[in-house]
Amino acid sequence: MNIVLASAEVFPFAKAGGLADVSGYLPKEWAKAGHSAIVIMPKYGHIDSQKYKLEPLNITISVPIGSWVEYAQLWRAVLPGSSVPVYFLESADYFDRHGIYGDPDGFHDNDRRFIFFSRAIFETLRALDFRPDVVLSNDYHTAFAMAFLKIHYRRDEYFAHTAGVQAIHNMAFQGIYGAEHLLYLAQIGLDQFYPLSWFEFRGAVNMLKVGILFADKVTTVSPRYAMEIRYTDQGHGLQDVLNEKSADLVGILNGVDYQVWNPETDPLIYANYTAESLENKQTNKLEFLRRSKVPESELYSDMPLIGMISRLTDQKGIDLVQEIIEHLLNSYPLRFALLGSGAANYEDFFRHLSQKYYPRSLIKIGYDEEISHKIEAAADIFLMPSRFEPCGLNQMYSLKYGTVPLVRATGGLADTVQEFDPTTLQGNGFVFDNPNPHELEAALRRAIAAYYDKALWKRIIQNGMQADNSSTRSAENYIKVFEWALAKIR
Ligand code: ADP
Ligand code: GLC
Repeated sequence: MNIVLASAEVFPFAKAGGLADVSGYLPKEWAKAGHSAIVIMPKYGHIDSQKYKLEPLNITISVPIGSWVEYAQLWRAVLPGSSVPVYFLESADYFDRHGIYGDPDGFHDNDRRFIFFSRAIFETLRALDFRPDVVLSNDYHTAFAMAFLKIHYRRDEYFAHTAGVQAIHNMAFQGIYGAEHLLYLAQIGLDQFYPLSWFEFRGAVNMLKVGILFADKVTTVSPRYAMEIRYTDQGHGLQDVLNEKSADLVGILNGVDYQVWNPETDPLIYANYTAESLENKQTNKLEFLRRSKVPESELYSDMPLIGMISRLTDQKGIDLVQEIIEHLLNSYPLRFALLGSGAANYEDFFRHLSQKYYPRSLIKIGYDEEISHKIEAAADIFLMPSRFEPCGLNQMYSLKYGTVPLVRATGGLADTVQEFDPTTLQGNGFVFDNPNPHELEAALRRAIAAYYDKALWKRIIQNGMQADNSSTRSAENYIKVFEWALAKIR
């Protein structure tokens, strides 16, 4: 099968969150399974062209926008650890700046940038002479590609048999922009066959809605989230649209790229280990504490290290942690290590916490790939109290690293973490239901009690390390959906 994955984020070139990880491993898995997969993404100003060996192709593509034509130059690299080609769209106007989205407020021209990107996908494919069976769009950034495919490109013999699949990684981001300007840029007029209601959302245009309605199949990143977005406010206003489309909506659990996230081989951690050599996990903990300048005299006092790596946003339940962390540090023997960046109020709070409770509170504000691996390997308990979580990757990394996840039962967290039951010895973590600090504290109390029962703790760790959340399985499920999509358009 010829597969195109289009994404605003692809690991390791440009990453803001889990979307990048998924966009990086899926094509590698498809290639391993014998498919021909390529990736298309923007060439952002901050991508390290030298490190990743980006090469200019001397190909300029023309992209129709509004009543004129714009241009992009193509660059090429390969996904590390594979031979999957990645094509980068170079545009001085749209992408040659630092950052992917321009967070926290977003670049003022994101509507134009993403319309340009969505349309450029097809012009790139034609220029490369890569005739796709499937285009997989990810989130709202490329969602208009689903409309461009149906409205413009399928009329062309070249794309007549191309299916469009829209993946939803997060319903909280839909790309809602002023209607008139956007429809003009996208060349969507009143004269077309599809109803304008497919574009409209509360008087504006909703890019994600467009992707959902125009796609042949729609995926989201866990089975539980696939239900939540239809039946609860997790649909963020698109519940009805998703229900209308329910026959074409599939939840596929994300996976883990065990080439990147594997304690046995991870080059970024202090000592490699397996379920049989957990003493090396202890080395990671000690070394992490030592490098975090915990005084030598305190290094060996046995208390759980609670780790957290997260965007600091409301989605991640940071407010719950904020409400309770001082009480926890005052009441329980524990250390807290956090790596994160995001909303200024949360960043300030944790900076303050770091000063007040150092060396039991070890905070790093920022984005740091290397430290994220070190925390996964060092921590005993990994905290993910998300208010909502389409899938979540860190809880699955944690399972692999023998770091026991403590999560709220929502979305993909509920699909991957089960409360440990000391009577049956089943389960791989600790789970709470309602997003309030009391339930979070109760779960933490259960986890800390278990931590001091060393035989029990080892069992929980090993239950987690046995889980197979590989990206291979996840990628296979996408192929099934692609086959359904192709059967549908035949
Ligand atoms: P989301 O995509 O909603 O942020 P996921 O759990 O799916 O949540 O993925 C988050 C990804 O981003 C993980 O790979 C995680 O390790 C990484 N990450 C988040 N914050 C940071 C940070 N401050 N530094 C390094 N990596 C981070
Ligand atoms: C989104 C979600 C996260 C998911 C990731 C990759 O950013 O917030 O839960 O794991 O996408 O699909």
